Amino acid sequence: VDEVRIVKVGAERIDELEPLWKALQEHHRSVDPGLPAIPPRTADDSWPRRRAKYADWLQHPDAFVLFAEAAARPVGYALVSIHEPADDTHVTGERWAELQSLSVEPTSRGGGLGTRLMERVYEELRASRIEELAIGVIATNERAMHFYERQGFRPWVVTTLGKVPESTT
Ligand SMILES: CC(C)(COP(=O)(O)OP(=O)(O)OC[C@H]1O[C@@H](n2cnc3c(N)ncnc32)[C@H](O)[C@@H]1OP(=O)(O)O)[C@@H](O)C(=O)NCCC(=O)NCCS
Repeated sequence: VDEVRIVKVGAERIDELEPLWKALQEHHRSVDPGLPAIPPRTADDSWPRRRAKYADWLQHPDAFVLFAEAAARPVGYALVSIHEPADDTHVTGERWAELQSLSVEPTSRGGGLGTRLMERVYEELRASRIEELAIGVIATNERAMHFYERQGFRPWVVTTLGKVPESTT
């Protein structure tokens, strides 16, 4: 883990994230809440959609992606987007951040890379004078929730998802 460096990279490198996104999605599938009739997408279907979102989010000047890089190859990443204006129900700064993805490759998990990525996320946000960070977590991803709670984050909005009920008339 020691020779892994955390580096901020440009949007031109997002294609390199495909395997790590697929690893994250695989993990999400393993903790999938089993929504009635709403199955997760396959990894191949999901990646181009995710990639397009990354490209869009990274157009904001304060958005960023960090690689945990070993021998010029990402073994983990964190991607942060920026929301404007302030949240309307809580006292936040005019710009606030959202961690859109955090993923470490399966063989490197539990070795401190996720924590190092988050520490660098906080550093980048402090440098941009952004004080709030929202993190979406799948409700059944208990280990990830524990990871974020340990760093001081707490569940906020709970999003429910289901099919629109069919007409009964
Ligand atoms: C969550 C994740 C990014 C953390 O990175 P990491 O390098 O494994 O984390 P660290 O070594 O810095 O910290 C370890 C802590 O992470 C948490 N953790 C969450 N998922 C974990 C996993 N699959 N394996 C190991 N630790 C995990 C645990 O709280 C662990 O602490 P513990 O060993 O006391 O239980 C990484 O485990 C991962 O990619 N998991 C699968 C994808 C995922 O859930 N991403 C978050 C989506 S919101």
